[in-house]
Amino acid sequence: MPHRTLIRDASVVMPEETARTSVLIEDGTIADVDPPRHARADEIVDAAGLHLLPGVIDDQVHFRDPGLTHKEDLRTGSMACAAGGVTSFLEMPNTVPQTVTVRALREKLERAARRSVVNYGFYAGATTGNLAELRRIERTRNLPTPGIKIFIGSSTGEMLVDDQESLEAIFAETVLPIAAHCEDETTVRANRQRIGSPPTIRDHSRIRDRWAALTATLRAIDLADRHRHRFHLLHASTAEEVAILACRLLEKRELVTAEVCPHHLFFDTSDYDRLGSLAQMNPSLKEAGDRKALWRGLKAGAIQILATDHAPHTLEEKRLPYPESPSGVPAVELVLPLMLNEANRGRCTLEDIAAWTSDGPARVWDIVGKGRIEPGGDADLVLVDMAEERVVRNEDQWSKCGWTPWHGTRLQGWPVRTWVGGRTVFANGKVEMEPCGGRLEFDRERGGYWAESAGSIVPASG
Ligand code: DOR
Repeated sequence: MPHRTLIRDASVVMPEETARTSVLIEDGTIADVDPPRHARADEIVDAAGLHLLPGVIDDQVHFRDPGLTHKEDLRTGSMACAAGGVTSFLEMPNTVPQTVTVRALREKLERAARRSVVNYGFYAGATTGNLAELRRIERTRNLPTPGIKIFIGSSTGEMLVDDQESLEAIFAETVLPIAAHCEDETTVRANRQRIGSPPTIRDHSRIRDRWAALTATLRAIDLADRHRHRFHLLHASTAEEVAILACRLLEKRELVTAEVCPHHLFFDTSDYDRLGSLAQMNPSLKEAGDRKALWRGLKAGAIQILATDHAPHTLEEKRLPYPESPSGVPAVELVLPLMLNEANRGRCTLEDIAAWTSDGPARVWDIVGKGRIEPGGDADLVLVDMAEERVVRNEDQWSKCGWTPWHGTRLQGWPVRTWVGGRTVFANGKVEMEPCGGRLEFDRERGGYWAESAGSIVPASG
């Protein structure tokens, strides 16, 4: 007999509506929404007063495994996911070794199978010399990857690709979607020189300024347009980028998608006084006007994804004097509570959150079986209590780094239970330790985000 769980009387957040109903899980899949009242179940979860959302798919995390596991590893990172209602992650290639070969990608997938408590996928990293290897990755069967990551602008790890010849070749000769970190290296170096020494943490946003972000983003969009190559802009940070994305949305130019991160939505340069290098990340924080523009871009559909760029470093490392302090902040276990708190304040709806954190990434990366609560979908779910209030504390973090820039913030709306493939991975404040995640699959025939989007966006036309 298949194992059946009935989540009864939740407010279920579905693509078209939120309805007070029940969800029946059978062997890892959503068997029914609104099943008959007497449906047989091995376990009944009374969810009255709670909301059920599709599990978060975080398409940008750095879990440091292998090589930098004193900061995080696939077990601790995925446990933090489970506690935060994140049921799938896509991880970046700037580990040691970098994920830039068939072998490194295969090893990471095998490592995650032994360690991850949630679903996983890994990007293939581009270097100036691994085009042949990227093409091998694309041709290798049973080696799923969402796409190719390019650092057009250096960050943690040495993965810079910013010479035009290499970029043209990667966009011209690969077929997987490309995601890029966009900060123009020449601009960053010139800014650094101009400021002189020693720079302070506030200079981080002057060194990695809006023009650095904008220049690299325009360059990447130009490459995508000329080569007709699907491109995803990682962590947009400026009002100018939002304006470009909004124009493209109006013009129905479907090749480019984009995302924003919680730190760029919730912090700006005024937060350096309070947080110092705990607010240091790449792309850097911008002004309050940028923060507002990013919210507008998200709400208007110009930005399709909210992802964390979870980038843990130890507190000891972060406390080094700038610029030795490394860039990056953790966020995987707080992205959902942060947004639920905003929903409680009326800034967005739960349907918005499900679209930005689940349906959006599932569509952008063509992830099979995920992103929505509907019959036949995978039972990756998160039950949340919109009334629960708690203050965020460093000591409560599941991430190995043990700190968060949101320490001391009161949030209302928290996950209470998370399922991955029908299996409970977080409940009663405890996280499942056994690996139970699944390798994500990517449907290369589906045609991408725009092809399946509702509304006025037209499919790619060649
Ligand atoms: O701040 C950042 N830290 N931005 C990135 O793109 C990389 C990340 C890291 O890996 O530390």
